[in-house]
Parts: sequence; structure tokens; C-alpha cells
Amino acid sequence: MDHFLYKDGILHAEDVAIPDIAATIGTPFYVYSTATLERHYRLFEEALAPLPHLVCFAMKANSNQAVIRTLGNLGAGMDVVSVGEYLRAKAAGVPGDRIVFSGVGKTREEMRVALEGGIRQFNVESEPEMRALSEVAVSLGVAAPIAIRVNPDVDAKTHEKIATGKKENKFGIPITRAREVYAEAARLPGLEVVGIDVHIGSQLTELEPYELAYTKVADLARALRADGHDIRRLDLGGGLGIPYTRSNEAPPLPKDYGDLIKRTVGDLGCEIEIEPGRLIVGNAGLLVAQVIYVKNGEDRDFLILDAAMNDLIRPAMYGAHHDIVPLVEPAPDAGHQPYDVVGPVCESGDTFARGRPLPPMAEGDRVAFRSAGAYGAVMASEYNSRPLVPEVLVKGDHFAVIRSRPSFDEMINRDTIPEWL
Ligand code: LLP
Repeated sequence: MDHFLYKDGILHAEDVAIPDIAATIGTPFYVYSTATLERHYRLFEEALAPLPHLVCFAMKANSNQAVIRTLGNLGAGMDVVSVGEYLRAKAAGVPGDRIVFSGVGKTREEMRVALEGGIRQFNVESEPEMRALSEVAVSLGVAAPIAIRVNPDVDAKTHEKIATGKKENKFGIPITRAREVYAEAARLPGLEVVGIDVHIGSQLTELEPYELAYTKVADLARALRADGHDIRRLDLGGGLGIPYTRSNEAPPLPKDYGDLIKRTVGDLGCEIEIEPGRLIVGNAGLLVAQVIYVKNGEDRDFLILDAAMNDLIRPAMYGAHHDIVPLVEPAPDAGHQPYDVVGPVCESGDTFARGRPLPPMAEGDRVAFRSAGAYGAVMASEYNSRPLVPEVLVKGDHFAVIRSRPSFDEMINRDTIPEWL
């Protein structure tokens, strides 16, 4: 459920008419709904209660500080994968003891910044990383709290580019070697083992892979405790999928996911951490664009928008589907015709949809891509020297620009031409 609905024939974000935002800042732009963000966060909170838990928003999905602040104010923790995300979380007011540091290639410098600034836990992904963290912690005279990410060799049944829990993936250590690696962790100075971490992939539309993975993690927790480790936290990762179409998709609900967690690991007495990104923010955001031209090709019509693959790369990168809806509600008898919806970037990959049935569209009409709040703005680039798209946050009947559109000068002046040229 989200808060993007037609009211009096105009698409609104909560109580704000989206064309009013377009009139103020121009297109394209991302717009997020506070009520949707809050609602989705609370669904996870309710799903995990009464287990002791922390919902750590996976900031990679959307790292705008206003989004982070919104969730942080509700008590959310953050899952970060770079020092940049760590510093953003801190800047948005999230305390270090609510920040979990994940990622397969943390540098010593990143470890240092997090240890000095305060961190809840590092999710360690390899033995070399574990040894490096031990060295950095010793050099600072502190103990680094760690969970070790195990790879349970489970098929997440999702797009190959976002599956992470199979043994051929680069993530974590094989669960079969976990006891050995935990034994080394216990021997190394400067490390404090606090738990186990697992994350098997993103946009999961079935619960079964979680069931398999979490059952393995529960068995491992018992074995590690028997080995003398103080396993008091389980970080169960993120990945719960969202519906990208309004028709027949029905991914599992947070409530059912919570029940599964209780069933598989609930008796261990551990504090549960989860790292959802997409489910919290995906359907809380739209990308709004304007039709530049309608081009009638030989055998198809192209809708050429002012948004492009550099602004929303998911269709080009994963063949992902995003529903596209006009800002002005079509008349019930308007009918539909197929369009190839494309951007102005100079490659054929800059195609959002092929043969997409839409009501007849004209130059200047505006459309919104739904489900664009996660992995939208964060994956944008300036390809073709197109300035990064601004972001807007709506709450009730007001909105604020939470990242402004850079001017062309700002974009261009980041380059420097050497004196000798
Ligand atoms: N935790 C870890 C360790 C992760 O690697 C990820 C996502 C998450 C949590 C959050 O997963 P979520 O709940 O958002 O599914 N760019 C791709 C998605 C990449 C996901 C990477 N890792 C896309 O646009 O579909």
C-alpha cells in the first residue's frame, strides 16, 4: 500500500498534487511519501515484536538524509556498506550504536572511522577482513563487535545479479567453515563476537529460501554456543520483495516473514536484526517525468521522456518493470495504445518499457514511474552530462526539496583543466 492516489483526477503524493511539485522544480524528479515510509517501517516493527529486535534500514536502497532522518526518528537502525553511508547516517542523527556495517570490501580506513565514531557491529565477510579489523581495533585500543556473515548456499530464486546466498557468490564465508572461522575470531585480539549475519539476496518473492537459510543459521547458533561463543544477536539480512505491478504479484507480507523468523530462530533468545531496504522505501517513491516528444516510428510509437536510464537504471540493468502512470487520470473510455517508453540517452538500452499500454499521450504530458523509491536516485549518474535528478519529500499537505538539482555550472565546474593544457 502507498499514498500515491488520484484525487479529483490528479495524481497526489499524500495531499500534495504532484503537478504542483513539477511546476515548482521542473521534471524529472523523485518524490517520496513520509506516510508510506513510516507505514512500511512499522510493519516490520510489528512483525518482529515481541522479540527483542532492531530494524536496520539498508541505506543502499535510498540514502537521502531526510529519508534516513524520517526512519531514524522512529527508532530505526541503519545498515551501511561504506564509510559514505556511515557518515550520512551519522549526519542524519542516527547514533553509532544503531549502525551495522556490512559489505564485502571494508577498508582499514573505513573500519577506523566507524570504530572511532561508534558502531553497533561489523558484519565481517572474510578471514582477511577479520584480521584487518583485529589490527585496526588493537591499534585504537578498542574491541570491535562482530557478526560473521555466513553464506548458507541457498537459492534465493531472484534475479541473478541480486542473489547473494549461493556458494558461487562473493559474499560471506561458507557456512560449512563457520565454526573454524569463529574459533579464529575468538583467538584474535580486538574482536568481540556478538552474533551471526546472513543475507541471501534481494527482491525475494517466496519465503522458502529464508526458511532454509534461517534454519541453518539456528543450527549454527547452537553449535557455536556449544563451542563457547556468546551468540546473542542474529542479523537476518534484508531482501523481502515488493509488488512492482498492481495486478497479480503478491510477495510475502512482513507479518508472515516475522512469523517465519519466530518459528526458525525465535527460541534462541537472540536479539534479531533485519536489514530491509526495498520494502521500506521502494513503493514510497515515484520518478516523475515529462513527455518531450511522441515519435511515430515505422512499426511502433516512442514516448520520449525527459528522464533516462541515468536517472532510473533498473529497467536497463535488470530488465526491471516499473508501472508507468499519467499524472492526469485518464478518462474511463480513453483506451490504451502501446508505446515504447524511452529516454534521451544515446543508446538503445535507454528503454524503460516496450509496447507498454498507456492512454494516448502528447508532448508536455507528465508520467510517474511507480515503485522507484528504492535503488532509483541512489543508482543515478550524470551519464550524457545530465545533472542528478532532485528529490522531494512529501508529508501531508506540504513538500520539501531534499536534494536539489545541481546547476549545469555546478556539474561542469567539478572538472578541472590542468594548467599545462
Ligand atoms: N543487506 C545486505 C547485506 C544487502 O546486500 C542488501 C541489498 C540489503 C540488506 C537490502 O536488500 P533489500 O531489502 O533492499 O532487498 N540494485 C538492485 C538491488 C541490490 C540489492 C543489494 N543488496 C535493484 O535495483 O534491484
